[in-house]
Amino acid sequence: MKLLSELKLGPITLKNRVIMAPLTRMRSAQPGNIPQELNGTYYAQRASAGLIITEATQVSQQGQGYPGTPGIHNKEQAAGWKKVTKAVHDKGGKIFLQLWHVGRISHSSHQPDGKLPVAPSAIAAKNSGTYTAEWKPTEILTPHALEVSEIKEIVKDFKQASIYAKEADFDGVEVHMANGYLLDQFLQNGSNQRTDAYGGSIADRVKFPLEVLDAVLSVWGKDKVGVRLSPYGTFNDMSDSDPVALFGHLIEELNKREIVFLDMIEPRATTAGGDDKLNDKAPSASDLFKNKFKGIFISAGGYDPDMAEEALKNNKADAIMFGRWFISNPDLPERIAKKAELTKYDRATFYGGQEKGYIDYPFLAY
Ligand code: PHB
Repeated sequence: MKLLSELKLGPITLKNRVIMAPLTRMRSAQPGNIPQELNGTYYAQRASAGLIITEATQVSQQGQGYPGTPGIHNKEQAAGWKKVTKAVHDKGGKIFLQLWHVGRISHSSHQPDGKLPVAPSAIAAKNSGTYTAEWKPTEILTPHALEVSEIKEIVKDFKQASIYAKEADFDGVEVHMANGYLLDQFLQNGSNQRTDAYGGSIADRVKFPLEVLDAVLSVWGKDKVGVRLSPYGTFNDMSDSDPVALFGHLIEELNKREIVFLDMIEPRATTAGGDDKLNDKAPSASDLFKNKFKGIFISAGGYDPDMAEEALKNNKADAIMFGRWFISNPDLPERIAKKAELTKYDRATFYGGQEKGYIDYPFLAY
C-alpha cells in the first residue's frame, strides 16, 4: 500500500504516510499548562505514525483559548515537552510541534491581566465558543484590534517559542495558520478589516503570517518547518471573498521559502473534528491547491484508510492525516497493514480528563 511506504521529509525519512493530526486534548498539568508524563505516554503509544504533529500549543499566555491546552513559552513547558519527545524518539517516532495563537477565540479568563482577547479587527466570531479557565462554556467576546507594536511582539513570541521547541528536541514545527485562529484571522477578509499595512489587499493580509513564518524559519530552517491551512473552512466563523486568489498567493510565498510541507484541511471537514458529518458539496482543497505547492502535500479531513489510499494513488496528496482514528487506535498503521478492525472513538473523552479515552485504547492482540 502507498500509505505504508516511506516518505522523505527534508532531512528525515518517515516510515509511512500515516500522519497523526494535531488534536486538542486539554490534558496538560495544572497550573502552568505543562506537558506531563501522561502526555508522553499518549504520544509514545502512537510513535508508529510516519509523523506525529502535536496538539496545538500556545506560543504565549495571550495565545491560549481553551483550558488545559499546553504551552511552549517558558522553561518548564519546554522541559515537559522534552520528556514527550524523548518518549516518542525512544519508540522510533518522529514528532513536530504545532505552534498556535488563538487570537479572538479566547476568553478574558485565559488572558494576561484578564484583558480582552486579540485579533486583527474588533469583530467577534459568531456561532463559535470556548471554555473559560474554569471550564465554563462561553461565547466569544469582541476582541481588541491589535496595534502594530503588539503585532511585532507576537512575532517575537513565535520566535521564542520556536527556540523552546528546539530545546525540547522536536524534529520540526508546524505553524498553525488554519481553523480561524490568529494567523487565519489575518489571512481572511471576513475577520481582517484593517486599513493599515496588515489588512486590505491579499499581499497585506498575508504579511503578518509570513513575518511569523520567517521568524520561525530563522530558528528552524526550511527543512523542518511546515504550515497548516484550511481554505474554505467555516469553523470559528471564517470567510473570505476570494479563497483561490488568497491561498494561491500564500502558497507562492511558501514556495519561495521552500518550507518542507503544507498540511491542508479539506473543506468537507470544516467542523475541525467537532462532529462526524462531511460536507460533500464543499470544494476540494487538494484539487485546487496541491499542484501549486512544490513541497510535500499532506491532506487532512475526514479520511478513513480506504479513502486515504485512494487519495495517494490518485496523486491528491503525498501523505494523509488521521485524527479521530488515531485517538482510538494507537497502532493505526499496523491495523491498516493487517486490514484489522478499527476501534471506535469516544467523543465524550476527547477534551479534558486524564487516562480514560486517552491512553487506554487497546492495541491489537497477538
Ligand atoms: C480546538 O481546540 O477545538 C481546536 C484547536 C485547533 C484546531 C481546531 C480545533 O485547529
